[in-house]
Amino acid sequence: MKTYLVTGGAGFIGSNFVYYLLKKYQDIQVVNVDKLTYAGNLENLKGLENDSRHIFVQADICDDQAIAKLFQQYEIDYVVNFAAESHVDRSILNPEIFVETNVQGTVNLLKHAKAAWTIGDDVYKAGVKFLQVSTDEVYGSLGEEGYFMETTPLCPHSPYSASKASADLFVQAFADTYRFPVNITRCSNNYGPYQFPEKLIPLIFNNTVHHKESPVYGDGLNVRDWLYVEDHCKGIDAVINKGRLGEVYNIGGHNERTNIFIVKTIIAYVKEHIDAAVGEHMITYVTDRKGHDRRYGIDPTKITDELGWYPETKFEDGIKKTLKWYSEHQEWIDHITSGKYQEYYKLMYEGR
Ligand code: NAD
Ligand code: TYD
Repeated sequence: MKTYLVTGGAGFIGSNFVYYLLKKYQDIQVVNVDKLTYAGNLENLKGLENDSRHIFVQADICDDQAIAKLFQQYEIDYVVNFAAESHVDRSILNPEIFVETNVQGTVNLLKHAKAAWTIGDDVYKAGVKFLQVSTDEVYGSLGEEGYFMETTPLCPHSPYSASKASADLFVQAFADTYRFPVNITRCSNNYGPYQFPEKLIPLIFNNTVHHKESPVYGDGLNVRDWLYVEDHCKGIDAVINKGRLGEVYNIGGHNERTNIFIVKTIIAYVKEHIDAAVGEHMITYVTDRKGHDRRYGIDPTKITDELGWYPETKFEDGIKKTLKWYSEHQEWIDHITSGKYQEYYKLMYEGR
């Protein structure tokens, strides 16, 4: 039986990954460690309350003792590190917490995983792996042509991407210095269920259904390469099982859209399915984000050729599924944005 230590598993991608793992594999255990910041919510894990293979622990990945204890308590085979401060706009306002969680927290996890897995000088228990979930934003910004490859030099611009790039360098340093078994995955913008409504897609959906303006930064022509979250989970799973140790794998590809296209698509969906009174008059162009990266685009050749992964979900299908999910989970949006039900779900978990 394999035991996964998933960090940040009460957040958007982490919770999707925990569901994905427990559905795909019967004989596993998932220790889910999350600090439950504003972005993490136990309500995201509501479907797992009666699944004894899922163990939730509220802890900070920066906490030396708490992480040491977890490695003593459980025979961890894989660490999958999602825990992070993840919002670029917040990083522009308050960079320090991004250094703490994204850099120091990652180093703390690396240190404890290394201590727990060491069986000789730079020799580790068989089959273990530390997977760092990173982002294409570490590569910086593209012009109109070209794609990010694993060999593209790191050139982060925002405090968020600078912190993720720093974490990647520490992970790589552990591999190079101690032959520590790692992989790094760098994915593009995810969309799907359970994304905190500060990010573009759920924010525009929520604003539109509440007849609030849709803020579009700058000229709206920045481009993101959208990846359906389940496809991302499949990519991570493939890298855990088959990724060559020490390698970086980019996950994403060929779903590039401008922000204004995304905003108009969401408004059109709400108009057709929920409320005919909404429309493009609700779009408001606002001051651009400082240092706003123009375009992200991933070349997924490496993961496709080596591991057989490709983005299965077409954007046109994924966005419909996603918006349908948000329209059926309006209560979830209200709860997560108000934070009101956080204590209630904590009690449900503790009482299990
Ligand atoms: P999220 O903000 O939705 O979730 C982050 C989770 O980490 C939350 O549950 C939060 O409570 C937890 N967390 C924060 N600080 C913590 C700490 N100190 N200790 C323990 N837990 C802590 O983020 P997400 O969108 O799910 O992103 C997950 C990972 O994927 C991040 O590492 C992010 O950099 C990366 N990523 C995300 C995207 C995207 O489009 N969302 C794209 C590329 C990479
Ligand atoms: P976001 O979801 O914050 O992801 P990231 O910055 O990590 O790519 O933003 C996606 C794009 O949408 C980005 O180019 C910024 C833009 N954006 C807006 O135009 N308006 C908004 O209200 C938000 C949150 C983002």
